[in-house]
Amino acid sequence: MSESTKYFLPEDRMPKAWYNLAADLPTPLPPALHPGTGQPIGPADLAPIFPNAVIEQEVSTERWIEIPEPVREVYRLWRPSPLIRARRLEQALGTPAKIFFKYEGVSPAGSHKPNTAVPQAFYNKQEGVKRLSTETGAGQWGSSLAFAGSLFGLEVEVYMVKVSYNQKPYRRALMETYGATCIASPSTLTQAGRDILARHPDSNGSLGIAISEAVEVAASRDDTKYALGSVLNHVCLHQTIIGEEAMMQMEMAGESPDVVIACTGGGSNFAGLAFPYVRENLKGAKVRIVGVEPASCPTLTKGLYAYDFGDTGKLTPMVKMHTLGATFMPPGSHSGGLRYHGMAPMVSHVMELGLMEARSYHQTECFAAAVQFARAEGIVPAPESSHAVKAAIAEALRCKEEGKAETILFNLSGHGHFDMQAYTDYFSGKLIDPQFDQQALAAALEELPKAG
Ligand SMILES: Cc1ncc(COP(=O)(O)O)c(C=O)c1O
Repeated sequence: MSESTKYFLPEDRMPKAWYNLAADLPTPLPPALHPGTGQPIGPADLAPIFPNAVIEQEVSTERWIEIPEPVREVYRLWRPSPLIRARRLEQALGTPAKIFFKYEGVSPAGSHKPNTAVPQAFYNKQEGVKRLSTETGAGQWGSSLAFAGSLFGLEVEVYMVKVSYNQKPYRRALMETYGATCIASPSTLTQAGRDILARHPDSNGSLGIAISEAVEVAASRDDTKYALGSVLNHVCLHQTIIGEEAMMQMEMAGESPDVVIACTGGGSNFAGLAFPYVRENLKGAKVRIVGVEPASCPTLTKGLYAYDFGDTGKLTPMVKMHTLGATFMPPGSHSGGLRYHGMAPMVSHVMELGLMEARSYHQTECFAAAVQFARAEGIVPAPESSHAVKAAIAEALRCKEEGKAETILFNLSGHGHFDMQAYTDYFSGKLIDPQFDQQALAAALEELPKAG
């Protein structure tokens, strides 16, 4: 067995294609429906907000989709990302388990999000688009699209959820460094924002509201298209480079995982690491696949599998997914990227097919796990990623109890260098674990569209 700590793939072994799970699903995904007619949407319905290449990928059932060379060239700035064996964490826990993590924090923006920002910017540029609008939660996605826009000469306008805008001023500075504009959402610049502010003047914002604002801007301007950082099929597709690399690196380590773990906000970093393993499971492998979400926004564990809107303003197509209801307002937390009412339709489908497990944790237990991880391995996890860290530690402790030397692989989707206020709040005892509001859930589910 290898004694190495880090496993690096050479640049020339970086995957040349993304993996599309749609090709291997035993039953196809339910179609997306038009928000007005309730009928399945076609490419023409999406054309005002997305470039054609992205729309084609959204509905493709091709197993492998080639990564264009200009995208690979940008990926080479930080990819292939390292696979790391967390030997010191294993020792600290006294577990017989082997813990590996794929580290996506080495990207310029500090997370997995540039894996899709770069191709999305590339395809838009290729089709003559001048501006991109988008939303961001914690700011990881906004910084990633700002970075990608700067490389391809596109203007980028980012609507940032207000609670995070106030908590993470340096994320805004990073977006501006890359040349983007960052606006606190809800804002008065859009009808969707003004409507929310009329009803909730003190609104903290949510990803659902910020998406409404960004989609409205794209739909109302000819020079602007919209880019989404998670949830949609093409985003999950672009992220599969994580799992494809990880598989080769696990082979270099002479191991294969018994458990694969990732946090789930909209589902994209989970899809990225897990879908290649779902493919292997469909061929007979037996890897446990675990998605981890916040107890304050427990989409997979408490949501309903139903058609719903992707945004609060009900402008987007309806998709079948695990949802807490588009009007559900998750409490403010430091994991802004996990505060989304829905889940990727593809991840939801995988869950319905029984191909994955899901669990939820409170934020303080995740911070405790992140601190333990940082003190053993040195890397300070993003609050979102700390959910995966918590689950990996829980699995390693289970192995200790059961005396099993299992192999655990998790995705460390980003670093927390812009999230240190969250750690400060944790150390000063200011972080609370809000009780999940069942009544608010019931009220939001009442408003689900009567589709499907
Ligand atoms: C570091 C990090 N991890 C995870 C997520 C959750 O998103 P997704 O579920 O799409 O990977 C985010 C979202 O902003 C993030 O910034």
